[in-house]
Amino acid sequence: MSTLPLAISQCLSEGLAKISTSSQVAKIIIAGLKEQSSPSVPTIIDTKKIGRVIQGEVHIRPYKSSDFATVRDLFIDSNVGPDSFAALLARDQRTARISLFLYSLAVLGALLAFQPHRRTLGIALAFLGVLGSAVYLSIPYFVFKGHLKTALNGDMADIPKTFEVTETDDESELRGKNGFWVAECVGMNGEREVVGCVGMNANSPGATQIGSTTSELRRMVVSKDYRRRGIAQRLIKAVVEHAKERGVEQIYLTTSSYQDAAVKMYLKLGWAVKRHFNPTFLFEKVYIYELILDVNTCKL
Ligand SMILES: CC(C)(COP(=O)(O)OP(=O)(O)OC[C@H]1O[C@@H](n2cnc3c(N)ncnc32)[C@H](O)[C@@H]1OP(=O)(O)O)[C@@H](O)C(=O)NCCC(=O)NCCS
Repeated sequence: MSTLPLAISQCLSEGLAKISTSSQVAKIIIAGLKEQSSPSVPTIIDTKKIGRVIQGEVHIRPYKSSDFATVRDLFIDSNVGPDSFAALLARDQRTARISLFLYSLAVLGALLAFQPHRRTLGIALAFLGVLGSAVYLSIPYFVFKGHLKTALNGDMADIPKTFEVTETDDESELRGKNGFWVAECVGMNGEREVVGCVGMNANSPGATQIGSTTSELRRMVVSKDYRRRGIAQRLIKAVVEHAKERGVEQIYLTTSSYQDAAVKMYLKLGWAVKRHFNPTFLFEKVYIYELILDVNTCKL
């Protein structure tokens, strides 16, 4: 009889540790995605080699189909890597009020289970606490698996179609309002590599809701190895210049409080906060930012 509460608390701590380790969440998501991905998807970029040297100029150019695998990896890495939204959310879920309540329930149940006349109640509460915690802490995994699957099978599956990139033999062109750009540079190994990307879509629900002269900035990522070198600013400059040429007056985007670098960058470049809200009580520490830029006041 006395081993039951012990078993429950052991189960609780092991179960929570398993689910709540953010890097594990990332690994599980990556593994899941790899299972679903086509065989052409290469391995994730090694994020441990921070601060690679760039030789020469960073070149911003329209996307080509040959960039597909790298762009996809950049996108996956930014979504599930150690400092990603998913990892930070998983970390914060562990200390969210709902988690603290569920842990307390499990501990209370385990203590009650020692008392013979409250044993059944104790077991029930402990079970509820353990199960509830397990479910609650696994929510980020399911949310982000769904989010990534939607993106990878949606706009990211056919970038030329979604973002109106026209490819000829060895060139690509942006003929419409939309666009997708990559940042390319010569890395330490002397080879050209794609180290960042960004898209602009005038047909996204976010943009069309605001108006016909608004486009949405999408899929902004710079490889961890090449950050803080002005590459994102160069990409944004290309987007803003294209927007001006095509009659786009405002650039809308959504980001989150977990994307601190991105929020600072957009505000610095002239985006204003349109809306700032907590999407659900289940993720109590996250705030979504809807930002909007008047292209004529962009500080670039
Ligand atoms: C946000 C991101 C694209 C910035 O790329 P970057 O190439 O490092 O950005 P830049 O070097 O052009 O920096 C532009 C400005 O942003 C701000 N900024 C960028 N990274 C920052 C950081 N880590 N901390 C504080 N400010 C930061 C600074 O104001 C910087 O200007 P400064 O260097 O002159 O001070 C990159 O961090 C990233 O890919 N993050 C993960 C994906 C993501 O969050 N994308 C946004 C989706 S909405």
